[in-house]
Amino acid sequence: MTTIQITKSGPIKVEGDAQLLDWNGAPYSIPKRPFWLCRCGASTNKPFCDGTHSKIGFQAAEAAVPGSGDKPAR
Ligand code: FES
Repeated sequence: MTTIQITKSGPIKVEGDAQLLDWNGAPYSIPKRPFWLCRCGASTNKPFCDGTHSKIGFQAAEAAVPGSGDKPAR
């Protein structure tokens, strides 16, 4: 099973045996799991998160459950 989790104001966490392909269908080498995908757009190691979201103050909190105190997903 693969789990994809949106982290609060951070990257997308991918757990499980998912394959990550580029636009040509070629797989990325993923040395360890879980892995994190950049959601802020500022990583210098895209598509992977390099921690830059913390330095730039990236804010995003789209909650799956409305009323959880965060902005609801659309
Ligand atoms: S989400 Fe971490 S660098 Fe973009």
